[in-house]
Amino acid sequence: MSAEQPPRRVTLNILRYNPADDSESAAAPRLQAYEIEEADGMTLFIALNELREHQDPTLQFDFVCRAGICGSCAMMVNGRPRLACRTLVKELPIETTLTPLPFFELIGDLSVNTGKWLRGMSERLETWLHGVEENIDLRKIEARMTPEEAEAIYEMDRCVECGCCVAACGTAQMRPDFVGAVGLGKIARFRLDPRDTRNDDDYYEVIGDDTGVFGCMSLLACHDVCPKSLPLKTQIAFLRKKMALIG
Ligand code: SF4
Ligand code: SF4
Ligand code: FES
Repeated sequence: MSAEQPPRRVTLNILRYNPADDSESAAAPRLQAYEIEEADGMTLFIALNELREHQDPTLQFDFVCRAGICGSCAMMVNGRPRLACRTLVKELPIETTLTPLPFFELIGDLSVNTGKWLRGMSERLETWLHGVEENIDLRKIEARMTPEEAEAIYEMDRCVECGCCVAACGTAQMRPDFVGAVGLGKIARFRLDPRDTRNDDDYYEVIGDDTGVFGCMSLLACHDVCPKSLPLKTQIAFLRKKMALIG
């Protein structure tokens, strides 16, 4: 921030609601305005912590890593899903509206339970390596894969399960059983893994319907908002082609 320009005072309009409060005096969902002075390098994560520390200790939001790794701090920033810890306040207009991610169970204010949905999705799609021996012999040479295979798997493994892709997805808003780009991305990841013994018929069983790849409308909001820039567009198109050949 240059010496000539005084720091901006920005307004954050934050959705306040506590669904756990079922008392008669419980407040209805509402936007509450907070003002804060912008500082150099201030992220939304820092701004929210300052608000909670100095203005309103009841404000609810989540974070763990502050580095775009844990995926906890996703929220709607002026209607677009983003990670609070990777969003600089200086990129935002003078007035910004923060609301919780839609689709997921609301815990309170900006805090949502993404973990519950992600766990259910993961169990449904069995997003773990299949075909691994139960009693692993540690003396055996580990399974080999090419650097290209490892790189492609790593690319998809960068997903931080933030839920941004699901929050942006039109299909997910209409049907809660849709597995979302995050679910399709997980299947793409295991499909790339030469150690996984499942074949395309097995994958068709879990994503070959409207709750999976055929529910996707291919408008690719997921691809646009993914904070880790996963190649969702390519992977979903590839999966759709493969599954269509089976169905
Ligand atoms: S695919 Fe991207 S947007 Fe979706 S959960 Fe993973 S990191 Fe978040
Ligand atoms: S492309 Fe498919 S998964 Fe991605 S946002 Fe659109 S409907 Fe959802
Ligand atoms: S706090 Fe972990 S991703 Fe933002």
